[in-house]
Amino acid sequence: MKIPKEFEVFLAVMSGFHLMLSGYIVGLITLLIPSRFQRRRRKDISGQIVLVTGAGNGIGRLLAVEFSKLRAIVVLIDINKNGMNETKNLMNPLAKAFVYECDVSNRQKVYEVAKRIRAEVGKVDILVNNAGIVNGKRFLELSDDSIERIMQINTMAHFWVSGCYTKFIKNIKLNKMCAPFLFLIN
Ligand SMILES: NC(=O)c1ccc[n+]([C@@H]2O[C@H](COP(=O)([O-])OP(=O)(O)OC[C@H]3O[C@@H](n4cnc5c(N)ncnc54)[C@H](O)[C@@H]3O)[C@@H](O)[C@H]2O)c1
Repeated sequence: MKIPKEFEVFLAVMSGFHLMLSGYIVGLITLLIPSRFQRRRRKDISGQIVLVTGAGNGIGRLLAVEFSKLRAIVVLIDINKNGMNETKNLMNPLAKAFVYECDVSNRQKVYEVAKRIRAEVGKVDILVNNAGIVNGKRFLELSDDSIERIMQINTMAHFWVSGCYTKFIKNIKLNKMCAPFLFLIN
């Protein structure tokens, strides 16, 4: 049976709405419970080094700003230098921020930048693999070049960046993994 396109869109919107609503409800309930009764206390990450890829826009920018409010030392990585500078301007001025231009799909460049970060900033404590591209096209509409680019940035880059920081930067252990990000928290 062929499902009408409008119904597919309706289902997608409803599932997004459902996720958002359940998130708000859980957040509200958590707010009402005093923190001493909650199993998880917030971790103090002031002074810790947090690296966010794709920090020049969107979610990466928001995360960088939030981490700076927690007084973390934030390392921004993106291919868009102007975007990263805008992010830096939005961050807590009391928090330290470092900007590195890097295409995360370029393995050699990732290794090179990792070495610089190690020398100039220090060992990374929290890594947020956020850089990615979204292509609104359907699977079969994608050109060969787009498919390769998507795989390089949205898949392979996670191996280069995570491998790099786990091998060369810090003995980091995998704490939490959630799509589309890979969070590595020491
Ligand atoms: N926004 C959403 O609703 C949504 C939903 C599902 C998944 N995601 C994923 O979340 C991540 C962030 O999404 P967003 O909405 O903030 O995207 P965005 O396009 O606003 O920001 C992505 C950032 O990544 C950077 N970037 C892209 N390719 C890069 C590369 N090769 N090297 C370094 N930096 C690169 C871009 O310059 C940009 O600053 C992406 O991986 C996206 O696929 C987003």
